[in-house]
Amino acid sequence: MLTKFATRHFSSTASTAYKVSVLGAAGGIGQPLSLLMKLNHKVTQLSLYDLRLGAGVATDISHIPTNSTVTGFGPEDNGLAKALDGADVVLIPAGVPRKPGMTRDDLFNTNASIVRDLAKAAADHSPNAAILVISNPVNSTVPIVAEVLKAKGVYNPKKLFGVTTLDVLRSSRFLSEVAKTNPVHEIVPVVGGHSGITIVPLISQTNHKNLPKETYDALVHRIQFGGDEVVQAKGGAGSATLSMAQAGARFAGAVLNGLAGEQDIVECSFVDSPLYKSEGVEFFSSKVTLGVDGVKQIHGLGNLTNAEEEMVNTAKETLIKNIEKGVNFVKQNP
Ligand SMILES: NC(=O)c1ccc[n+]([C@@H]2O[C@H](COP(=O)([O-])OP(=O)(O)OC[C@H]3O[C@@H](n4cnc5c(N)ncnc54)[C@H](O)[C@@H]3O)[C@@H](O)[C@H]2O)c1
Repeated sequence: MLTKFATRHFSSTASTAYKVSVLGAAGGIGQPLSLLMKLNHKVTQLSLYDLRLGAGVATDISHIPTNSTVTGFGPEDNGLAKALDGADVVLIPAGVPRKPGMTRDDLFNTNASIVRDLAKAAADHSPNAAILVISNPVNSTVPIVAEVLKAKGVYNPKKLFGVTTLDVLRSSRFLSEVAKTNPVHEIVPVVGGHSGITIVPLISQTNHKNLPKETYDALVHRIQFGGDEVVQAKGGAGSATLSMAQAGARFAGAVLNGLAGEQDIVECSFVDSPLYKSEGVEFFSSKVTLGVDGVKQIHGLGNLTNAEEEMVNTAKETLIKNIEKGVNFVKQNP
């Protein structure tokens, strides 16, 4: 199921039993994401938390005969602490989605405090977990989690990820439609961040370097704003949920493969990155090799065209502001 940038080899010491917690498990993303995690054979305990319906979704999914126990929790009876206790991987799709006309940044006011509070609980009850943030705006919610973990003294930059995999999936799909190829074979690194102009697909690193300019521009725009197609098509009922669940499950699967000691597991993700720190960009998405401790290696961007270079520069300017917004939120609302 995983698309990788390199061949996979197996370590002889691999462990294969993991507890995965999904926070916001009864939502549009949470339900199909939980279902897909139930189908991942590395998961032995699946823990589903939501403000509502956590137990219902868990009971439903628990009837699927794979090798994991599924437990559902709500806020009552210390449910969040129990859901997180000892988790290896925590997926966070909790929060509100966009309505037509909204940008991801418009979600900040609601989702910032939700993510902050869930991060506090993760710091207390699963301090060693890899935390995978799906809640938007990812460019700001990831720094929020980092600040909370720092304040709690448990920040491990190797284990905090903003999930940008949906941009990678869309790039494969949309490029294949333009190039008339099988999307399964189209692998596009996507760097920068996860919103509009911060999403930078590196088409020059595919087999389709010489698309006509008009086609290229339209493709890049579609990748950057593909989420809007779903928001508009759903007419106010939310944003991408099913494709996002697939993206989240693919990324979580890759993190689990890394934790299990498999080699050459590479995905793009928004992480605490050295690439542009000297320019004030604390988090940046690029290809990351995943390993037993989380991030094993953060890859540089490779050769870029002038157009890509320009997009990266624009992305950096916006990212600095988005990241600062998250950091300031935690300072002002600890
Ligand atoms: N990273 C990405 O690529 C990407 C893509 C699509 C959507 N998203 C984001 O994912 C988030 C969820 O989207 P959705 O469509 O599933 O929304 P949704 O409204 O369908 O589901 C959200 C769920 O979160 C739950 N929730 C809210 N506050 C909570 C809390 N404090 N603790 C636990 N659960 C809580 C709600 O009860 C609900 O079940 C949104 O912020 C959306 O913008 C991210």
